[in-house]
Amino acid sequence: CQSTLAATPPMGWNSWNHFAEHVTDADVRTAADLIVSTGMRDAGYIYVNVDDTWQGTRDANGELHPNDRFPDMKKLGDYIHSKGLKFGIYSSPGPKTCGGFEGSLGHEVQDAKMYAGWGVDFLKYDLCSMQDPMRELTAKNNGNTDAAFKMMIDAYRKMGDALKATNRPIFYSLCQYGIAEPWKWGPEVGAQMWRTTDDINDTYGRMTIIGLEQADLAPFAGPGHWNDPDMLEVGNGHMTTDEYRTHMSLWALLAAPLLAGNDLSKMTPEDKSILLNKEAIAIDQDSLGKQATRLYQRGDFSVWTKPLADGRVAVGLFNTAGDSRDIALDLTQIGFAQGATLHDVWENKDLGKHTGIYSRNIPKHGVALLILSK
Ligand code: GLA
Repeated sequence: CQSTLAATPPMGWNSWNHFAEHVTDADVRTAADLIVSTGMRDAGYIYVNVDDTWQGTRDANGELHPNDRFPDMKKLGDYIHSKGLKFGIYSSPGPKTCGGFEGSLGHEVQDAKMYAGWGVDFLKYDLCSMQDPMRELTAKNNGNTDAAFKMMIDAYRKMGDALKATNRPIFYSLCQYGIAEPWKWGPEVGAQMWRTTDDINDTYGRMTIIGLEQADLAPFAGPGHWNDPDMLEVGNGHMTTDEYRTHMSLWALLAAPLLAGNDLSKMTPEDKSILLNKEAIAIDQDSLGKQATRLYQRGDFSVWTKPLADGRVAVGLFNTAGDSRDIALDLTQIGFAQGATLHDVWENKDLGKHTGIYSRNIPKHGVALLILSK
């Protein structure tokens, strides 16, 4: 049943952001070991997802084989499962994947059965090479882009149906960068999440452009179906601790999938404290499943609020300016006319009861992630 498969946003690790096309079977096994030894599994990071570039060639029967960096996918899946984790894989609804490897177009049923046989629990299905067929189809239909979009949606539906037919619960993650508003048709094709944007990278600029632009998509997230602003870059080394805290805070408020994308063997204590922060994770995983909305944006300052199942409210105060700023939050504006008891997630500190305006100095590119209760 789809809603239990994705009652809360999925959490795990994916090979792409750090290993990209160099990933090997050994890297994935090491990641599985480290997810356990760092405490990430017990904090909720369950999926171990192999991204693009595992594929080899199809044989005479059309059966796809992994390439020589992945000697035996079934054994890899067994290894991941033996650690109490789930196994994810990647393909494309086109002839080729984004990395130019073999896609699943025309082999949906066969590939889905093969994944189920390997014990796959998660499929990321990435558009890339459908863009050319879409262009061709648009031309054939005298510029009718609706027909091209229908073809793309049908290709996603085909794999969704093929996954369902395996009778194995396989989490279905669409990756097509928000083209043609997948939040409107994703659930219909059997998906539990869909990318809303083009790729993230390990810079504060790119991360905030993506994260702070998700405001209008809140109505489309909820238990069973999640917006995906792309995977985490925390720990990849090109942002400051304040910037990575901003990243984790935003993704948690957005009820985004938390798929770590770093080299787990090289985590600093700061990286660990961010990825393993229990309260940030609890905000993301809250059972109400609401995605935060933006209360307001004033220049370099924005306030986001996410209602939680127990009546508390998670609030993010974001400062995108290049220097620290004093920021004022009007508690009456967010339903706390009688005042609120504040808890600071990153400082792990109770801030006591406040009424009216709460003022706070926020560092450059930083955040205050607060939990408010009456
Ligand atoms: C696209 C996706 C990335 C990654 C690569 C793999 O760019 O958006 O997340 O999967 O393809 O080639």
